Amino acid sequence: MNHFLDIHKTDPQSLRAILDQAAAMKRARQGRPKGAPDDDQPLAGHMVALIFEKPSTRTRVSFDVGVRQMGGQTMVLSGSDMQLGHGETIADTARVLSRYVDLIMIRTFDESVLLEMAEYADVPVINGLTDRTHPCQIMADILTYEEHRGPIAGKKVVWSGDGNNVCASFLHAAGQFGFDFTFTGPPQFDPEAEFVGFARQKGSKVTIERDPVKAVEGADLVVTDTWVSMHDAQSTRERRHNMLRPFQVNEELMRHARPDALFMHCLPAHREEEATSAVMDGPHSVIFDEAENRLHAQKAIMRWCLEV
Ligand code: CP
Ligand code: NVA
Repeated sequence: MNHFLDIHKTDPQSLRAILDQAAAMKRARQGRPKGAPDDDQPLAGHMVALIFEKPSTRTRVSFDVGVRQMGGQTMVLSGSDMQLGHGETIADTARVLSRYVDLIMIRTFDESVLLEMAEYADVPVINGLTDRTHPCQIMADILTYEEHRGPIAGKKVVWSGDGNNVCASFLHAAGQFGFDFTFTGPPQFDPEAEFVGFARQKGSKVTIERDPVKAVEGADLVVTDTWVSMHDAQSTRERRHNMLRPFQVNEELMRHARPDALFMHCLPAHREEEATSAVMDGPHSVIFDEAENRLHAQKAIMRWCLEV
């Protein structure tokens, strides 16, 4: 079963094939209205369930539009409306959904929900974000980097701020795509050792640097994300902000990166917090290309899952 659960669980050849297909499908659609069907309709006759236990704009809309462009149909389900939110087990839900739909995408809190869904489903399951990882986002980010700057292998990616779920998938990608990764943030916000260990074991140079200015020296790509993720308690907001403020990505910090460095943020952003508008709307920023590329990358991921 071709589940797309995480970047480190998908072999590098498949990851590269997915990106190549995404780029080709993007090119083939150039200039068309968003609602126009693709020439190929590989998902014709396929039904895709999109399950959300957390809010979403990009993941929800890009998966839905992507399925439709490829000729398939979707149903968007919120976890709380399903029996899932009222005590039915994940395993039973997975087995039931597998009788109705061809593919399941789920955004949830605890990673165990995703893993149990994949274990018991008879159809492929895609990770649309958990508290720990966000692999679809990083596939779109790699596609975006390579569109602008060519191969990411050997480049220096710097993450500034919270070593969260998006950072974790970047570390997986560092290992699988062969780029170097520097994390800068307070020690309390370090990425989990398991993610760092994966990248290092694959030969990627991973550096933890507490000084953000030193960290971004020579950076080809600077990335950040919200200081308070959906799974973080709102009561921790002020403390987190106070600790993470020195790691804001602003024009002064970007001046220390390479002149042609790109800036990425998966969005939604909190302007003037983790990144300033001057950077988000400035010459280094490719944030809206990243958002667009969710669509193209995920279309290719779905085709890989379904082998169509
Ligand atoms: N980047 C991302 O996953 O955005 P949404 O939360 O809007 O889906
Ligand atoms: N780290 C963020 C990413 C949102 C797309 C969160 O989990 O809320």
